[in-house]
Amino acid sequence: MSKNIFKGSVVLNPVPVVMVTSRNNEGKDNVFTVAWTGTVCTKPPMLSISIRPERLSYEYIKESMEFTINLPTRKLTRETDFCGVRSGRVVDKISEMKFTMKEGKEVSSPYIDECPVNIECKVKSIIPLGTHDLFLAEVLCSHIDEKLIDENGKIHFEWANLITYSHGEYFPVPKTAIGSFGYSVAKQATIERKKAIAKTNSSTKKKKDKIKEKTKKKGRK
Ligand SMILES: Cc1cc2nc3c(=O)[nH]c(=O)nc-3n(C[C@H](O)[C@H](O)[C@H](O)COP(=O)(O)O)c2cc1C
Repeated sequence: MSKNIFKGSVVLNPVPVVMVTSRNNEGKDNVFTVAWTGTVCTKPPMLSISIRPERLSYEYIKESMEFTINLPTRKLTRETDFCGVRSGRVVDKISEMKFTMKEGKEVSSPYIDECPVNIECKVKSIIPLGTHDLFLAEVLCSHIDEKLIDENGKIHFEWANLITYSHGEYFPVPKTAIGSFGYSVAKQATIERKKAIAKTNSSTKKKKDKIKEKTKKKGRK
């Protein structure tokens, strides 16, 4: 492979793209889009978001030391972009985007009900880095759409139509896996068993979706 050298930028790709909700001490809510986010610890469960100090959300989150991460779906791509190009200082993004806000369970910040996954976080430390400050936060609890959980309690994020961000563009996350954790060293029998379970789960989901669609159509008649 012949490669060009690039300096001075983080080319890590693809990255998540999320909407972060917060509430300030006066009870005002805001939402903004964040791509510089990641999992940083398993126990305690922790993640990070990097925020430029000029953002309104920076003020809100520094005040309350809490925020909620909302995972957008393909349907919410336009909303995700909008919340990343307009500030809450000039527009009420929550009402403009017609989001249904629900009260948090462990934190003061509300969450976006239209997003299938909402992660409630408590800020543990803030580290200034340069353009952005790194907010390290503990995950206190998460809300997960029950439609993403199968009979065995397994969460299927691949059923959620989530989106990702790559070099200025949004992409859908594919529904089919091309491998699974440890499959490179697993015994063939284990791989076959896992594949069979995945096939059953996806056909159960398809059946459920068909029933749902039929019920919807009947309702419309
Ligand atoms: C795809 C995308 C990703 C973004 N990621 C970040 C980020 O990681 N950190 C950040 O401070 N701003 C990020 N922004 C910019 C803010 O979301 C944007 O400035 C927003 O208007 C700030 O809103 P606020 O002033 O209401 O807080 C991103 C914008 C987009 C469109």
